Amino acid sequence: MMAVSLNTDVNQRRYRGLPELGSRALFPTLEVPVYLNHGSLSPISEAVQASINEVLAGYASRGMGWYAVETERRERLRANLAGMLSADQGEIALVGNTTAGIQAIALGLDWQPTDRVLLLEGEFPTNVMPWLQAARNHDLQTVWMEAEAFRLDRAGALERLEAELSRGVRLMAISAVQFATGQRMPLEAIGELCRRFGTELFVDAIQALGVVPLDVKAICIDYLACGSHKWLMGPEGAGLLYVDAARAGRLNPQLAGWLSCEDPFAFLTRAPGELRYDRPLRRDARLFEAGTPNSIGLAGLEASTALLTELGIDSIFDHVQSWLGALEPALVECGFESARMGGKEGRSGILSVRPPDPALAPAWAAALGAQGVACASPDGWIRFSPHWPNALSEVDTVVTAVDEIIAAGGPGQIT
Ligand SMILES: Cc1ncc(COP(=O)(O)O)c(C=O)c1O
Repeated sequence: MMAVSLNTDVNQRRYRGLPELGSRALFPTLEVPVYLNHGSLSPISEAVQASINEVLAGYASRGMGWYAVETERRERLRANLAGMLSADQGEIALVGNTTAGIQAIALGLDWQPTDRVLLLEGEFPTNVMPWLQAARNHDLQTVWMEAEAFRLDRAGALERLEAELSRGVRLMAISAVQFATGQRMPLEAIGELCRRFGTELFVDAIQALGVVPLDVKAICIDYLACGSHKWLMGPEGAGLLYVDAARAGRLNPQLAGWLSCEDPFAFLTRAPGELRYDRPLRRDARLFEAGTPNSIGLAGLEASTALLTELGIDSIFDHVQSWLGALEPALVECGFESARMGGKEGRSGILSVRPPDPALAPAWAAALGAQGVACASPDGWIRFSPHWPNALSEVDTVVTAVDEIIAAGGPGQIT
């Protein structure tokens, strides 16, 4: 068989050193003048495009001979993600999206009837629906709290949470950052409470990972799922599931695939007699990598996480806070209500503001879009979500656009 040279080194060398906070140099074809919508979907960088092109070119020229290159690339991705989370590589499974990660755990726990699951009102539906389905299937009880309570009265909400957990809760599911308000949840305090009362903690990290520092061990997170296309800046249809090593061995998945077991390739690479269906299941997160992976999406994610790792999540967080810190007072002066919390520990990559008439939030997002400022309008908030490529000089452009919309008589007047 022809030896496969690791052309990915060329790609890595080409982009090494290039990402720079506040520079769009790696996004030369991005048409939107001010892109503030990473909370919805990130534009694809040149590095990600090059990585994806390389997968396609590799398979085009070598077919199965290229497979090992992608296997190695995925191990680099696993290392990047583990590094970002302070996890071990064996605790990371590469999956299709956040939902797939949540479903894996919802289908993998040995639920007992009347187990209680704590969910948050106001969460993005991804982190609610699979748990509700598990509740229907297994006769679980759901306990609800308001996500907003942790923003409006954090100490009071933590007290209420403590009371709920003290009554016995099997699992709590929470987003690290709330999608609509950008509230960064008090995960350290919540993790400590969950550990104290024996509650398993599941975190949806898609609005955090890539911009907010996250240490799964320090927070005592048991499971965490995250998609690629927002703050991780990769393509759609790729993601990760973290499973704490101590939990993985106790999972009892209702579904498994040919790659879920130990030594799954033996029957393809060794002498006859290895084709068996009784190989033991893996006892780590990779149990959930049940079939052939999305090598194209994961190659893109490998390239984007390499850039994030190079820049450092702490530096990215500080950069984004400077950016949002410059915009927030200008918007408040214009009459918008800001949802951004006072302390750093409550802040994320999102600044959400509410116009005096919340019904006009979509009209505001559309009017700003027409002025070259891409943002979103989830659930009555206007959401600005810059990332590392956004320059501080863009803030003035946003403020000017807002002033012009107000001067024109409101968002409905601008098309
Ligand atoms: C908090 C949150 N979770 C999950 C998702 C998406 O889930 P999935 O990756 O399964 O599509 C989003 C946004 O699309 C989100 O804001």
